Amino acid sequence: MKRPMFPRLLPSVLIPAAFATLAMSSGHVQARTGQEVLQQQCVACHAVSKPQSLDLERLWQRKGPDLYYAGIKFNQPWLEKWLQNPTTIRPAGVMPARSVRAAADKTPDTVDPGALTPHLALSKDEAAAVAAELMKLGPDLGLVEKGAFRNDPPNVSMAGMLFSKLRGCASCHSAKPGNGGSSGPEMYDGGARLQPDYIVAYLRDPQKFDPHVWMPRLDLNDADVQKLAGYITTLKGEAK
Ligand code: HEC
Ligand code: HEC
Repeated sequence: MKRPMFPRLLPSVLIPAAFATLAMSSGHVQARTGQEVLQQQCVACHAVSKPQSLDLERLWQRKGPDLYYAGIKFNQPWLEKWLQNPTTIRPAGVMPARSVRAAADKTPDTVDPGALTPHLALSKDEAAAVAAELMKLGPDLGLVEKGAFRNDPPNVSMAGMLFSKLRGCASCHSAKPGNGGSSGPEMYDGGARLQPDYIVAYLRDPQKFDPHVWMPRLDLNDADVQKLAGYITTLKGEAK
C-alpha cells in the first residue's frame, strides 16, 4: 500500500534534522542535564523516586541501592568524586545472597567476583550535574531528623571498640579496608560518604529506610548511637 503522506512530510522533517546534526557536529554538543543522565543511565538499576511498595520482592530484585533519598544520605563532594571514579562500597554487591559463596565450616565466606560488575563512571561535568540533582532527593520523606547528630567530643577508641567488638557492627561492616564483614557497605570512608544525621537515623531504625533490609535493629541506646555515629564520621578512607 502506498503512503502518500510520507514523501510530503519528508522535507519538513529531514531538513531541520539535518541542520540539527550539522549544528552538533560543527562544535557545541549540548551537555546533558543531571536529570537526563539519571533517566537515561541510572534508573535501570536505581530507584530515584520512592517505589510504590517496599516489599521483600522489590528488595530482592533491585540491581542497585536506592537513590530516592540521596539528598539526605550522601555528602555532595563525595558523590561528585565517586561518580567519576567509582570504587567498591559493598564488597559482596548490593545483594550479598547472590554473590557470597558460603564456605565450609569455620573458614570465611568468599565473594564470587564474577557476580560483581564495575560501576559506570561519568565525566566531571556530568558527575557534578547528577550529584546536584541527587542532592534534591528525599528531604520531604521524613526519614531523617535534622540536627539528630549531636557531635559530642569523640572518644574514638571507645567508639571503635563498640563498633568492632561490643555491638557487632564489624561482623557486617569494615572500619578498615579488608577488616570486617562483607555483607554491609564498607565504613572506612563512611564519614566522607554519609551525612551524620543520616547515620544517626539509620542506626536508630534501619527498617525505617526499608522494612526488609537485612541490617538488624540493634536496640542501641542514644548514647551508643551518638558514639557510633561520631566514630563513623571520623572515618574518611585512605588518601586517594
Ligand atoms: C547496572 C546497574 C547500575 C547502573 C546502570 C548504575 N548503577 Fe549505581 N550502583 C549499582 C550498584 C550495584 C551499586 C552498589 C556498588 C557497591 O556498593 O559497591 C551502585 C552504587 C551507586 C551509588 C552509591 C550508593 C550507596 O548507597 O552507597 C551511587 C551514588 C550510584 N550508584 C549512582 C549511580 C548513578 C548516578 C548512575 C547513572 C549515571 C548509576 N549509579 C548507574 C548499579 C548501577
Ligand atoms: C547483619 C549485618 C549487619 C550488622 C550486624 C550491622 N549492619 Fe549496618 N548495614 C547492614 C546492611 C545490609 C546495610 C544496608 C545496605 C544497603 O542498603 O545496601 C547496612 C547499613 C548501614 C548504614 C547505612 C549505610 C549506607 O550505606 O546506607 C550504617 C551507617 C550502618 N549500617 C552502621 C552499622 C553499625 C554502626 C552497626 C553496629 C551497631 C551495624 N551497622 C550493624 C548490615 C549490618
